[in-house]
Amino acid sequence: MDHSSEQTEVQIMPGGPILVKGILRVTQADGSIETREGNTAFCRCGASSKKPFCDGTHRAVAFE
Ligand code: FES
Repeated sequence: MDHSSEQTEVQIMPGGPILVKGILRVTQADGSIETREGNTAFCRCGASSKKPFCDGTHRAVAFE
């Protein structure tokens, strides 16, 4: 049986975020819930001002 269309795709971007493709239900640290669709980038460098999401700051901090 092919489950490929049901699989959630996760990609680690070199020097950048974790990219998750699909419909996501994200529970924030404060308990609030957010629904995301398409590609969602999660910060991996720790420098984003929109955590847990990437805001592109990894480029400025030269995250590797
Ligand atoms: S990975 Fe992009 S801001 Fe942290």
